[in-house]
This record gives sequence, C-alpha cells and structure tokens, in this order.
Amino acid sequence: MFTDKVLMITGGTGSFGNEVLRRFLASDIGEIRIFSRDEKKQDDMRKAYSHPKLRFHLGDVRRAESVNDAMRGVDFVFHAAALKQVPSCEFYPMEAVRTNILGAENVLNAACANGVSRVIVLSTDKAVYPINAMGLSKAMSEKLMVAKARTHGGATTMCATRYGNVMNSRGSVIPLFVRQIRTGAPLTITDPSMTRFLMSLEESVDLVIHAFEHAKPGDIFVRKAPACTIATLAEALQEMAGTTVPVRIIGSRHGEKIYETLLSREEMAKAEDHGDFYRVPADEGDLNYDKYLVAGQIDLAAIQDYTSHNTTRLDVAGVCDLLRKAGMRTDAFVDEA
Ligand SMILES: NC(=O)c1ccc[n+]([C@@H]2O[C@H](COP(=O)([O-])OP(=O)(O)OC[C@H]3O[C@@H](n4cnc5c(N)ncnc54)[C@H](OP(=O)(O)O)[C@@H]3O)[C@@H](O)[C@H]2O)c1
Repeated sequence: MFTDKVLMITGGTGSFGNEVLRRFLASDIGEIRIFSRDEKKQDDMRKAYSHPKLRFHLGDVRRAESVNDAMRGVDFVFHAAALKQVPSCEFYPMEAVRTNILGAENVLNAACANGVSRVIVLSTDKAVYPINAMGLSKAMSEKLMVAKARTHGGATTMCATRYGNVMNSRGSVIPLFVRQIRTGAPLTITDPSMTRFLMSLEESVDLVIHAFEHAKPGDIFVRKAPACTIATLAEALQEMAGTTVPVRIIGSRHGEKIYETLLSREEMAKAEDHGDFYRVPADEGDLNYDKYLVAGQIDLAAIQDYTSHNTTRLDVAGVCDLLRKAGMRTDAFVDEA
C-alpha cells in the first residue's frame, strides 16, 4: 500500500513520528516527509537517520500556507502535531485552540486541496467527555475531521485514531517516576486509585496502520488496551528498579480525571468490534433535524462506556511484563552522573 508513496507526518519529530520512521524507513515507501517547527529536533533527526527517503519541512500547522506548501505531492498524512500536555493547555487554552483545532483544520484543508488520498488524525482518550482544554481541543479536532469527511472529503478519506497514555512517552508519568526513583526522591502520586490505559508506541503505530487500511470517511478507531492504577504503576517501577522509595500523595491536579474513557456508551452502541480494535463509524445523520423526532437511539442504559476502570486491569506483575515488552530495562533507573 505504501510502495513508492509519499507519507507526510506532521509533528514527525515527536515520539510517534520516530516510531513510524523505525517501522517504515526500511520499507519500499517512496518518501517520508517530516513537518514540524523546531529546526534543532529536525537537524538531530536528519543526522541520526541520515536516510535518503527522509525529507524535512520546517513549518507550523497554525499557518495554512506552510502546511499547504509542504503537502504538494503527498499521498498520505499522519497528523500527529499537537499540544498534548494537560497543564500547559489549561494555562494557555487559546494555544491549544490554535494548534489542535485550527492547525487540524489547516491540515485537512491542505490535504483536500492537494488530493491526498488518506489522512489519519491522531487523537486521545482525553477527547472523550473532555474536562480539560487539551481534551476539548482534541475533541474539536475529531469533530472537524468528521464534518469535513461528510462535506469536503471527495478523493480524500479522513479518519481519526484515539489512544490512551503511551508508556514512557514525553510528558507521561513514567519518565517522571523513573527520574524520581533514580535520584531517590519521593514518588509524587496525585491519586493512587486513578487508572490509566497502557499502550506502547508500537501499538499506537499499529492502530494508525489499522485505521489506514480499514477507514471509511469519518471513522474513529480505538485500540483495546489494558489499564492499571497509578499505585500499581508506581509499585511496578520500583520492583523493576529493585528499590523502594517513599511515596507522597499530592492530590489530583486540575484537569485530571479519576479514569479515562476511550469510547462513550453512545459510540459503543454503534462500534464494530475488529478484534484488537474498535471502529466507530461516522454519524450518518444530516441537517434535517425532523428525523431525530421520529427515529430514536438503541437502549443506551444497557451499554457501558469503554474506560480504564472497566477494561482489563493489570496487577504489578502484569505491568512489569508490559513495561519490559515496551523496552524498559533496569538500567533506566541507574543515575548516569
Ligand atoms: N504520547 C501519548 O501518550 C499520546 C496519547 C494519546 C494521543 N497522542 C497523540 O498522538 C500525537 C503524537 O504524540 P507524540 O507523543 O508523538 O507527541 P510529541 O512527542 O509531543 O510530538 C509532537 C510533535 O508535534 C510537533 N508540533 C507541536 N506543535 C506544532 C505545530 N504548531 N506545528 C507543527 N508541529 C508541531 C512538535 O515538534 P516541534 O516542537 O518541533 O514543532 C513535536 O515533535 C499527538 O496528536 C497526541 O495528541 C499521544
């Protein structure tokens, strides 16, 4: 499917982009185009990969012209560029609007204008029942994708993927806990009973590829994932480090949920089960609201949201196993200084 094709990854200098490169650079893909703002990250990557199929475009998704220029001749887009940290978006919500909503609109418009055949918008569990600015802005980027797929898609198939915390990615709690264990500082836990989905970077790329292969316009794809409590995660990391450090409960931060939801019950009601994945088709309703008065929904009370509280719950051994599979080694806890 990717043979000789040009793939553009917005935000390609991030964790997801690097994992895609590891997977695709050795394949028969034609070109991978990285689109992002920071020249230093691009330069580091250029040197690290030093690969003829890799091209770098400096630009900002907030600027329609720069996105449009970079998208000429592109076949597929993985739209990963985002502001994704809850606290920074809480303090600067308009920055989240500019990058996550208006930036997504620029990417989708440029894809339609340049005849891109497939665009996958990367979203997050925080977009479901959003309570923080980051989640709200990502929820709006999903809505934009669905609305544009309905009205402007044409030759461009747009869809989204949603996933929960990627273990060990920038800004996640694991690097923080690892740093604290390494320096012997107390582990700062907001709420020990809080649960979070656990996914590896590899699985996030599997999800995007599954969406790429199966999407109809406006679909949202989710990968089923296990979860654990933050207390279990902290215990698992200490076990892997072979040490015990004190734990300090600091209380929830604003914008933080007790559990995350990957699919609402309304979405579960129409989701197709694809084994490791769910596919949520776009709403086929139109602007004729009369229909809503005569045709109702299925019995939603009988259906549950898909959450980090009701998915498979891992114990300490299960989390250690998953962390090892995701490449975490005991030397991660050794202070290099
Ligand atoms: N990691 C997770 O746990 C997780 C979970 C669920 C969903 N997701 C979603 O997956 C996607 C990728 O996440 P990730 O972990 O790879 O994030 P990441 O490591 O933070 O990378 C994001 C990239 O976006 C680029 N970027 C930010 N603002 C930009 C802008 N205005 N214009 C162009 N590029 C911009 C950044 O590069 P520059 O600073 O150089 O521009 C950065 O390389 C995001 O959409 C995120 O919401 C991630």
